[in-house]
Amino acid sequence: MLRYVYRILTINALVLSLIVIFQTSAQAQPNGEALFKANCTACHVVGDDVVVGPGLKNVHTKYKEDWLIKWIKNSQAMVKAGDPQAVKVYEQFNKVAMTSFNLSDDEIKSIIGYIKTTSEAAPAVATTPEVAAGSEAKDGGSSLTLILVTLTLIILFVILNRVQKGLQRVINDRNGIPEPVKLKGKAGVKVWIRGNKKLIAFLFIVVSVVGSVAGWKALAGIGINQNYAPDQPIKFSHQLHVGQNKIDCRYCHSGAEKSKNAGIPSPNLCMNCHKYVKKGPKYGTEEISKIYEAIGWDVDAQQYTGKTKPIKWVRVHNLPELAYFNHSQHVTVGGVACETCHGPVGEMEVMKQFSPLTMGWCIQCHRDTPVKMEGNGYYNAVHENIKKNTVLMRSLQLKN
Ligand code: HEC
Ligand code: HEC
Ligand code: HEC
Ligand code: HEC
Ligand code: HEC
Repeated sequence: MLRYVYRILTINALVLSLIVIFQTSAQAQPNGEALFKANCTACHVVGDDVVVGPGLKNVHTKYKEDWLIKWIKNSQAMVKAGDPQAVKVYEQFNKVAMTSFNLSDDEIKSIIGYIKTTSEAAPAVATTPEVAAGSEAKDGGSSLTLILVTLTLIILFVILNRVQKGLQRVINDRNGIPEPVKLKGKAGVKVWIRGNKKLIAFLFIVVSVVGSVAGWKALAGIGINQNYAPDQPIKFSHQLHVGQNKIDCRYCHSGAEKSKNAGIPSPNLCMNCHKYVKKGPKYGTEEISKIYEAIGWDVDAQQYTGKTKPIKWVRVHNLPELAYFNHSQHVTVGGVACETCHGPVGEMEVMKQFSPLTMGWCIQCHRDTPVKMEGNGYYNAVHENIKKNTVLMRSLQLKN
């Protein structure tokens, strides 16, 4: 009788722990934070700052949930239908269209939930790095509960095991069955293993499930260097040049419009200004003199010495070899703004990698961005080519 109760309890404990483990990993599925990061951070922060779109702090109080769901699914449809609130934001943001999203109602609700909790948690300014730090803390929390639950279950199991053995001994005693002799050393271990097969199997299952969940999470993070911001040989600030002095990206990264690589400007280009701007607001002459050293400029004599020393900028973005990414295709043909992929560069003291640069990131945007073919020289040329090639192929087929 007791045996059965005990068995049922064991099975219960096993099933329960499996459910708990699956639920904690399933919760990550419609995870508002992850969805927000994957889909929205290119254009929004949960704060007051405008990136491409407005800061979304407290946006859940500005609109009804239904309205938000419709907007996120397809804001353009709402603008076209003449929804007054939709038309108002659209015009306020110079008619920059927000991408439409193929997300389910539940997924959008979880994103809104994330915006709500972050708005309430964040005091005045919530910038992207803070949001990122918050996520790590939350992840840590969920694995902590996982560990606590498994520990409790193991302890429960051991206690039940003891109770059962104790009761068995009492029964044996009453029936006059002598207590088995306790073995020591290796033989003892063997007997213990034989007597505790269930416990060992249980532990094995728990360890392997927890191990694979953790392993999966670690694998999913490999090669993602989001927010990577290495120290640079010269403390060059985009915030100072772009944010304050309003220098256009293309002035320094002229390759972005015409070629695959955006390119890093040579010190010659810096000299267009720094022949005259000899002092900075933060580091005085210290950092700017490194430009002079690199290009071999003698400030006192106002002439080049001919002794150059290249600046070794540390590369921030590194796509894997197998991915082909072309800037001009995106900037000139696709009309995608630098900030969509590189974030609020005008606010960065130190350049950092803003987007995850994963294949999923590339694909998500390709899925969401309709290709504008009309009046686009690139596509006109492509279509001419296709026509020519089909004519060519037809004539080849005829010959065969
Ligand atoms: C490609 C850039 C882009 C992406 C990605 C994007 N948005 Fe937007 N969003 C905008 C722009 C631009 C606006 C301003 C309205 C307009 O011009 O259409 C906006 C407006 C909004 C508004 C209205 C804000 C207000 O204060 O009225 C909400 C809410 C919103 N977006 C939520 C989201 C959510 C949630 C996501 C992710 C699922 C997202 N957006 C992804 C560009 C984007
Ligand atoms: C005055 C010249 C200048 C302007 C203007 C400028 N940049 Fe830069 N940019 C640099 C220099 C120098 C570096 C290399 C040092 C660094 O990473 O901070 C750099 C680095 C970068 C990188 C990282 C490159 C890597 O190693 O992966 C990106 C991305 C970038 N810039 C984007 C932009 C965007 C977007 C704008 C416009 C909003 C812009 N830059 C405006 C000079 C400039
Ligand atoms: C569609 C997304 C996207 C847009 C738009 C975009 N970039 Fe990039 N950028 C990338 C990716 C991805 C890389 C990494 C490329 C690599 O490692 O080969 C990168 C790398 C860079 C680099 C590092 C050096 C290089 O040439 O690889 C600079 C500088 C840069 N981008 C500047 C710009 C500027 C300036 C603009 C706007 C004129 C811009 N980017 C627009 C995605 C984008
Ligand atoms: C179009 C003009 C222009 C170009 C090109 C330019 N800068 Fe600057 N730079 C400025 C201005 C303006 C300041 C700020 C001076 C001030 O506010 O006192 C500045 C300041 C600086 C400072 C001082 C920072 C500090 O706080 O002390 C550094 C370092 C610097 N630039 C590096 C570079 C480098 C490296 C390049 C080339 C990749 C470059 N700049 C290209 C205009 C330019
Ligand atoms: C913010 C949106 C966005 C992101 C992110 C993005 N792309 Fe694109 N991509 C576009 C647009 C828009 C076009 C231009 C329309 C077109 O040519 O299909 C394009 C075009 C392309 C093309 C050329 C297709 C052709 O017709 O020749 C390639 C290849 C490409 N992207 C690769 C990538 C890779 C690789 C990444 C990730 C590293 C990436 N893209 C990230 C928006 C994006």
